[in-house]
Amino acid sequence: MPRVNSNYAKLQAGYLFPEIGRRTAAYKAAHPEADIIRMGIGDVVLPLPQAICEAMEKAVREMGTPEGFRGYGPEQGYPFLREAIAAEFALRGAKISPDEVFVSDGSKCDTGNFQELFGADAKIAVTDPVYPVYVDTNVMAGRTGKCSNGSYEGLVYLPTTAENGFAPELPEEKVDVVYLCSPNNPTGAVMTREQLEKWVAWARANDVVILFDAAYEAFIRDPALPHSIFEIEGARDVAVEFRSFSKHAGFTGVRCGYVVVPKESPFHAMWNRRHCTKFNGVSYPVQRGAEAVFSPEGRRQCQANVDYYMANADLVRRTLGGLGVKVHGGENGPYIWMETPNGESSWDFFDRLLTRANVVGTPGAGFGACGEGYFRLSAFALRENVERALERIARVL
Ligand code: MLT
Repeated sequence: MPRVNSNYAKLQAGYLFPEIGRRTAAYKAAHPEADIIRMGIGDVVLPLPQAICEAMEKAVREMGTPEGFRGYGPEQGYPFLREAIAAEFALRGAKISPDEVFVSDGSKCDTGNFQELFGADAKIAVTDPVYPVYVDTNVMAGRTGKCSNGSYEGLVYLPTTAENGFAPELPEEKVDVVYLCSPNNPTGAVMTREQLEKWVAWARANDVVILFDAAYEAFIRDPALPHSIFEIEGARDVAVEFRSFSKHAGFTGVRCGYVVVPKESPFHAMWNRRHCTKFNGVSYPVQRGAEAVFSPEGRRQCQANVDYYMANADLVRRTLGGLGVKVHGGENGPYIWMETPNGESSWDFFDRLLTRANVVGTPGAGFGACGEGYFRLSAFALRENVERALERIARVL
């Protein structure tokens, strides 16, 4: 056996969503008649907006002509898309130049890969619960010890629970990197301007880099809430931001996202180096599709999809709340973070919901120790399925 990266042996079981898929598939194999409703992984269900399809179709046709054919594109993305993205930030007062945008195949890869730029001994802080990619990729890179009771030695965990209003406290010990996600996956909480200002000031004073995951910013409805960390003064020196076309533009299967790394940051040149070495760019038709997200038609159509999913979130919140369940999130983000009935363990509730209601959600413990006692429902489902799922959930509460 060749010498392998032994850090992989520290990882807990399988990655969360495949594990849910495995349990669901095993149940379905044993009960082929079961009509399972999926509100687990946040995967979109509405068709791609037409403006995006048309742009991609046109780009494919262009590629079939001698004048329009393109081979390798710029690794960082075509200027037309980087410029459209920078203009989008400017609408909210965040100054980003197009060459600070690195187009990629999605935020999962970007948030997972960015840790490569930090030293092996970098001290990493994450919220708890947390999107598992941040943790698992740092485990793979050897920045942690073993896992016990759902937490890895060596990571700094910042609890975000109902007790602190899902707003993590600043770390007490010295850290090098902190991952923040707003709107949050999984809790659905959104950081206010004041909270973000506090984090930026702290990062500047303590020489910390904030990896800000804004993959769900398009779901913010409250106009007072910031969409980007770069709306905060001073953030350019300390922050990197991740964004995605997956959820609001329906790109989970198309694949496109981007990272904004300001030129003030030492990570700009490093990320450029890494990107050029390991990535050959997103395909031209996909980038044309992403550009169409910012066209007037594209905006209108994407917003209609966002509104549809957020109406699902409202329905889940209202219905479960009316049944006495404590529900959080779902107001400015597509995830509803419910407390499990009678403090039931989140995996027990998962199994009970799967087997008795044939509804799949995501157990809070899968996102970290502080997620125990919570359960995530995704608003990315067809309305009729949300309605049917809620009727079934009501019967097993
Ligand atoms: C989720 O359900 O948390 C997301 O779909 C995960 C992802 O976008 O990678």
